[in-house]
Amino acid sequence: MKGLILSGGYGTRLRPITYSQQKQLIPVANKPILFYAIEDVIGAGAKEIGIIVGPNKEQVIETVESENWDAEIDFIYQDAPRGLAHTILVAEDFLDEGFVMYLGDNILREGIAEHAKKFKENNYDASIMLTEVENPEQFGVADINEDGTIKKLIEKPEVPPSNLALVGIYFFKTAILEACKSIKPSWRNELEITDAIQWLIDNGYEVGWTKVNGWWKDTGKPEDIFEANRLILDDIQTRSEGNAESTKIIGRAIIEKGVEIKDSSVKGPSLIGRDCLIRNSYVGPYTSIGKECIIEDTEIEDSIVMEKSEIIGGGRIIESLIGKEVKIKRKADLPNGRKLIVGDHSEIVG
Ligand code: DAU
Repeated sequence: MKGLILSGGYGTRLRPITYSQQKQLIPVANKPILFYAIEDVIGAGAKEIGIIVGPNKEQVIETVESENWDAEIDFIYQDAPRGLAHTILVAEDFLDEGFVMYLGDNILREGIAEHAKKFKENNYDASIMLTEVENPEQFGVADINEDGTIKKLIEKPEVPPSNLALVGIYFFKTAILEACKSIKPSWRNELEITDAIQWLIDNGYEVGWTKVNGWWKDTGKPEDIFEANRLILDDIQTRSEGNAESTKIIGRAIIEKGVEIKDSSVKGPSLIGRDCLIRNSYVGPYTSIGKECIIEDTEIEDSIVMEKSEIIGGGRIIESLIGKEVKIKRKADLPNGRKLIVGDHSEIVG
């Protein structure tokens, strides 16, 4: 089975971060979201992976190629986000056998190996993954018959027929190519994957489904990214390779090599990337700090700080997403509890 991972699109709901950074590269627990997808696809046995890249393709290629993967990776260019089914058409030459399609902004706790196994065992033409959600109108939604077969799939319905959302991971045989060629663009001018799967159902192909039991996150919005960060940090084990002086560490924390912490307190679960300097600060639960950051005279909690950023005299920062190489420097005290979304290379100085 091959893997097709989607890392195109513009990520408009994550601006300003996505002005300079492709959304699937935003780190969750200090790892690009896209890497979780690649790991899952490899974990399900794929040896060849095609990654759909769009306008920011160089960034994605460079980031993926900075790691050694146990699979051959090809990059497939899509000129504009014309829909999930469109990516299958763009990748047609690569997709000469059964494959898993994985949206590069999805994170799934349990991995996909079990779901891939069921797809193969049942010899389905396609298999989707469903999970119960509180806000089905924001997803593709499945209407299931009494006998458990799929009746209908509807993309972001105003009145959802159930609370079963489509997770952004799909298993297909090559029949999906004909389906993608047969459908027309939707009202949002995209070739929808839900319409292509519906075409398979309507044309007598076997479409199965499996249920996701652990947590799943579509990291489309900042609050989803914070939630994914919390969920991943909830599972970390304490590890410290840094140097802490006059510092209290409470709970589970990962402190990477080269980290210097002085006169501070760290409360887990939290993650401090390599070569960070933390001074006279409080790093609270559910905080991930990327490599080579400087945090001084600051209280930070429930936040993501990307690599090479400096926060000096930042006051109290909560639920914040701080881009790469950001500088926040204040001399005077700031009001408590600020929530910030700061794009790469920004400076906040006062
Ligand atoms: O996350 C699950 C949901 O994903 C499903 O419930 C929906 O049925 C499905 O349509 C999809 O909805 P989204 O609105 O979340 O899809 P989005 O446009 O955000 O695209 C998902 C990922 O695929 C994102 O990482 C960008 C990438 N993409 C998207 C499009 C439309 C591409 O690479 N190319 C594209 O043309």
